[in-house]
Amino acid sequence: MRVAVLNGVNLDVLERRDPAIYGGLSLNQLETRIYDWARELELQAECRQTNSEGEYVSWCHDALDWADGVVANPGAWSHYSYAIRDALELFEAPVVEVHLSNIAEREEWRRHTVIEDIAAARVIGKGPEGYREALTFLAERQA
Ligand code: DQA
Repeated sequence: MRVAVLNGVNLDVLERRDPAIYGGLSLNQLETRIYDWARELELQAECRQTNSEGEYVSWCHDALDWADGVVANPGAWSHYSYAIRDALELFEAPVVEVHLSNIAEREEWRRHTVIEDIAAARVIGKGPEGYREALTFLAERQA
């Protein structure tokens, strides 16, 4: 099973963001864990990150041709980008929405996401482990 792990805006500077909220891990360290977890689950993961909304949309389009599942953390775009929602909505494959932080208990504007109703599952506020949970959901769904 091939899984596209699509991280969005500002996740490239994860280690510079408030460690009390984001844990202090770098994107590189996070992706290393994701690849390890994917291997354990016998999934083939492909991690990508961009700060360009258009590029994120293009990667969704690209992944339509090969991904059997998607793990999406579009960062702040999750809260307002209908372009990314429309792109993620194109997938017949399951899309799992992940947020490192607990957006339900942060600022009011973070509580809602424009992809929450199209996600096959959501994992929120579990830090890096949330990605493991998302991958496990996809692996189990496939079995
Ligand atoms: C985030 C939560 C978003 O509200 C925020 O804008 C991010 C990261 C998370 O993973 O917790 O950039 O998606």
